[in-house]
Formats: sequence, C-alpha cells, structure tokens
Amino acid sequence: MEEKKKYARTLVTTALPYANGPVHIGHLAGVYVPADIYVRYLLLKGEDVIMIGGSDEHGVPITIKAQKEGVTPQDIVDRYHKIIKDSMEGLGISFDIYGRTTSQTHRKTASEFFKKLYDKGEFIEKTSMQFYDEEADQWLADRYITGTCPHCGNEGAYGDQCEACGTSLNATDLINPKSAITGNVPVLKETKHWYMPLDKWEPRLRQWILEEHKEWKTNVYGQCKSWLDAGLQPRAVTRDLDWGIPVPIEGAEGKVLYVWFDAPIGYISNTIDLLPNDWEKYWKAPDSRIIHFIGKDNIVFHCLIFPAMLMAEDTYQQPDNVPANEFLNLEDDKISTSRNWAVWLHEYLEDFPGKQDVLRYVLTANAPETKDNNFTWKDFQDRNNNELVAILGNFVNRAVVLTNKYFDGVIPEAHELTDYDQQTINEFKDVKDELSKALETFHFRAALAEAMKLARIGNKYLADTEPWKLAKTDMTRVETIMNIALQITANLAIAFEPFLPFSAEKLRKMINLERADWNKLGSIDILKAGDRVETPVLLFEKIDDETIKAQTDRLERIKQENILKNFTPKAVAPTVSFDDFQKLDIRVGKVLACEKVKKADKLLKFTIDDGMKGRTIVSGIAKFYNPEDLVGKEVCFIANFATRTLKGIESQGMILSAEDADGRLVVIGPHGEVRPGVQVG
Ligand code: 2FM
Ligand code: ZN
Repeated sequence: MEEKKKYARTLVTTALPYANGPVHIGHLAGVYVPADIYVRYLLLKGEDVIMIGGSDEHGVPITIKAQKEGVTPQDIVDRYHKIIKDSMEGLGISFDIYGRTTSQTHRKTASEFFKKLYDKGEFIEKTSMQFYDEEADQWLADRYITGTCPHCGNEGAYGDQCEACGTSLNATDLINPKSAITGNVPVLKETKHWYMPLDKWEPRLRQWILEEHKEWKTNVYGQCKSWLDAGLQPRAVTRDLDWGIPVPIEGAEGKVLYVWFDAPIGYISNTIDLLPNDWEKYWKAPDSRIIHFIGKDNIVFHCLIFPAMLMAEDTYQQPDNVPANEFLNLEDDKISTSRNWAVWLHEYLEDFPGKQDVLRYVLTANAPETKDNNFTWKDFQDRNNNELVAILGNFVNRAVVLTNKYFDGVIPEAHELTDYDQQTINEFKDVKDELSKALETFHFRAALAEAMKLARIGNKYLADTEPWKLAKTDMTRVETIMNIALQITANLAIAFEPFLPFSAEKLRKMINLERADWNKLGSIDILKAGDRVETPVLLFEKIDDETIKAQTDRLERIKQENILKNFTPKAVAPTVSFDDFQKLDIRVGKVLACEKVKKADKLLKFTIDDGMKGRTIVSGIAKFYNPEDLVGKEVCFIANFATRTLKGIESQGMILSAEDADGRLVVIGPHGEVRPGVQVG
C-alpha cells in the first residue's frame, strides 16, 4: 500500500452555495454533511483542522433573481446569506467561518489575485463576439442566455453549462440562443476579455491528477481524465456585468471577474478573515493539506481551473483531495430550486425541531457517494423508526435504564468474563480501525454502517444475556453484563459524534462521559466502575405517518402547481374536412348506471340511455370519479366507435373526456338539456 503522507494541519473547504436561494438536502448530502463528519472526526482525533465555508454572492443566478423580484442583488444575497448561515448552524455544521464573497477582504483578495496574474502575463487578452440583448441594453453572460445544448439536446441549457448533461459550454455553442431577460434572439457584438490559458497548464494538471492522485474517488478522477483527454481550452475569467468584483486594470470599465474566478478565492479570503495572521500556513506550508468538498457539477472548477489559477499564482499548494459527490434526487425527481422541488433545510428545522440528527443520519446513509441517490420521506421515516429508534436508541435506553434500576445509576464492576463476553468484545475491538479507514477515504456511508454495527452488537448482547432474568439469581453476572453494555454505550457516544453530534452529546451527558476521545474507541474501560450515569432521556422518537404525509402532501401540491404552471396546449392536429368530421357519430347519452369493473382499477362500466335500445360503454376514468356521482349525468359519446371487449365486457362506444395538464380526465357533456340520442355536430 501507498505510504501515508504526513501532515500537520488540514484546511477543509466546502463549496460556497449561491446566495440566491436557501440550501436543500441535495447540498447537504453532497457537501456539508460529509464535510462536517470529516472535520468532526479529525477534531476528535485531536488534529489541527479548520472548516471554511461561505456564500457565493456574485454571478448571474443572483442578478437574475434580483431582476425577477425587482430588488437589488445586494438585497438578495443579504436575505439568503442569513437564511443559509443560520440553517447550517442549526444543523450543527461546524464551520470556523461562514463568510461571504461580497466582503471587503474578499474583494481585495480576489482583485489582487487577478492583478498578480495579469502582471505576470498569465492571461491572454482576446476580443470576441458575445451575445447582447438590444432591448434590455445588456450583455448576456452565462445564465442570461438559454438555448439547446449541442451535446444532449436539453432545451433549457445555460450559456455556461448544461445542467442536464453537466457539459460546460460557451454561450455561442448553444442552438437557438435566447435572452433570459426578454426572450429575444440576441445579437452578437464584439467585446474584450481576459482568458486563462488552461491549455498551458494541461501537462502539469495531467501529471498532478492522473499520475499523482490515482487515489481520488473514481467519479472525480474519471471526470478530470475525460476533460484532460478532450484537451483544455483558454477560458474567459472576466464578464460584461455590473454585479461582481471590478476587473482591476485600465480599459476594463464595466467588466467584472467571472464568478468562478472569484468564488474559489473566497476560500482564501474567508481563511484570511478567520486567521488574519496565520492563514498562510494553511494554504502554503508543505505540511498542510487542503481538502475541497463539492458536488459533481463543480469538479472542473476545483480540479482544473482553480488549480491552474494557483499554478499561475505560484505560491499556493494544490488540494490534496477533492471528494466530490454525485447528486441526490427527491422522490425520484431531480432537485430543483426553480421548481421548488426540494426539502429546504430551514423549513426542515422548523418542521422537525430537535431532529437535526435524523436528517444527518438519513442523508449520510443515503449519500450519493458513487452514483446519484434518492431521498424519500418513507425511507426517512423507516430509517428513523427502524434504525435510530429501534436499534441505537433502544440499546442506549436499555443500558441506562437497567443501570438505574439495578444499581441506582452506579456503574457496576466487571467480574470474570465469559467466552460470550469476550466474543462480543472481540466483535467491536476493530471498530476504530474500520471507522477510521472508511472516514479517511471519504466513505461516509460505510463509516456510518460501521458505527451502527456497534449498536447492533450491543442490542444482541443484551438480548442474548438477558440481565433482567439473571437479576433474580446472579447479580454478580448482571454487574459484568451491565458494565460491558455501558462500555458499548460509551463507544457509541464516541463513534457517533461525527455523524450525530446532538445525540452523541446527549448520550455523553447521560453517561457522564466528559470528552469523546477517538483513541478510546474499541476499548472496554472507557467508563469507570463506581461512576454514575444519569436518568435516561430518549435519544430518538418514532415519526408517525401523519407527519410524513404532511411532507408528501406538500410535495404533491408542488408537483401539481408545476404541472399547471408549465402547461402549453398541444400543437393543433392536421386539418380535416367536414366530411371527415361527419364520419364520427357523436351523440348525447344519459348515464343510467355506472359501476367499477372488477379487477381493473382504471375502468368504469356505464349503462347509457342512447335514445335507442341502450348500450354499455367501458371507460378508463375510474381514478377520477365515484361511479355513483355520474349516474343521471349527460355525457357525449362516439356511437359508431368499433366495439371492443375490455375485461370480458363488450364496450359499445367511447365516452368523451378532456385530459387536463395534470393527467386528470374530465367527462364532456352538454351544457343544456337535450334528449338522449341526439347527434353532436
Ligand atoms: O455551484 C455552486 O453553487 C457554486 N456557487 C459553487 C462555488 S464553489 C467555490 F468555488 F466557491
Ligand atoms: Zn446537455
């Protein structure tokens, strides 16, 4: 195996979310929860680590949002920075600083960084044709342009990136480009910009990643390799916009730094704000290491573009690892801020007070580490009820309750161990190594499963040894069993601290364990006999169906709203002649009887008064009507429709209905009284 590098300190950064909306479970599962687990783990080991975060407050997503609401971009970022910062704190994400890219420090740092590269001659100056909206009198950078992605055909691709296939684009690559402000077809106008010649850094990037970082996660390594194999092109690092950091050189009036140039420098400026005198050590000392936690759409910026900027600047270290995650879906659909298809963190914290750890647990157990993954409310409930409550909570509760019951809360002594005790102890003695290995290689799901294994071992131990039965005959044996059970509890308080910090703290208080020490993990002498435990508090409680239904109902409402919002009538079918129309014999009929068809959840059987001898029609609208509500109603039907047999019933016509945008079928009938059997035409 490769020899492990020695390092004295770690700088952990987390992608700076755009302050144009709150953060949702996708952000959390992809970036903030894993980063927080990692940082908490290093802290438990007593390492020197700082966690840097903040809001990304520049860029077109913010100006577009401001324009839509008729407020300033500053209003937008002030609003969302606060919501994001507070909610991250609410979830226990242990940032040492959560800064913002509109800060003075950041403006200065990013500006000087650009100027240094400019002075060193690291940019190419190029004049090119770019899109302009003449009606809005505005340049159309990045997301101000939408069009069809030339790679995957997605019609909503942006000028800088297609979110459907993840390809990074130039606005001029788009097919049928449109201005996002007016919807107009934009014109091309000449403008000057500064470019990073990524091609110049390609050989070094190739060597650094493909040769020296084969240990990176395969999704990250693979994406870098395909970018590098395709060949890197110069990238513009300035934009024609009025929101951002002004380009600090003459002749660049009205231009700002590209948001993806300034945002990663935000990691540096936020470190400066945190440690004004000490920040450089974390970024530049060879015994420091830098780890960027990001989502997969950010890989190119963190693994190729920012590193190329750092290479050009020449005094910074490159990141040691970039453990990017894939995406989390919500109820089998892509999370989307614009469609409001998300579970928002600030809303979760309001709806589920005191249940931060449940969300942290579910998002870690389902983390999209190697492939996109799915969050469902049902799974959230199941994992809470069947794992946190039934396994972890149950074991801890039993251990503490029994100690109170038999020993008045005093931790008993362990006497002679049986083979079974020894076997149980052996089962978890390696937990520290297993957990450490998984955490150090960013396998957080596996690490959580390992910690949970410990709780399962505890549960099994109590179930097998049954101290409540022995209490009548052999208190010495009960003392040993409860000592071991409490030692397992103490192990749990340590093992779960990175994952479930709120519950781990409650647990520590319950057993009076002052400090969680990672080095003690796996041992059975963490608690001292004679010390006390407190009366138990419940770590987790069951979540009922009603609570879950409130959440799924909310999503269902959003889905319906989106469907209706996006409805556009279908294109009109080819013209037909009057003769063609007359071929259809449409008539009015009265529903005499209506009932569900057995073993067919979609079908209703109608008995229709057609003014003649009557007829039976089977129609696929059972999901939308109670059959009895239709009796007595007048409906239109096609009288000369070829008969069909459905579930053994001969259907003699077709009842007309309209399909609404959400797929609902509504039966069509006359608006005045007419005699059954008359023709419609
Ligand atoms: O994708 C995003 O949400 C970006 N705002 C991430 C920026 S990460 C870093 F570079 F600041
Ligand atoms: Zn695409």
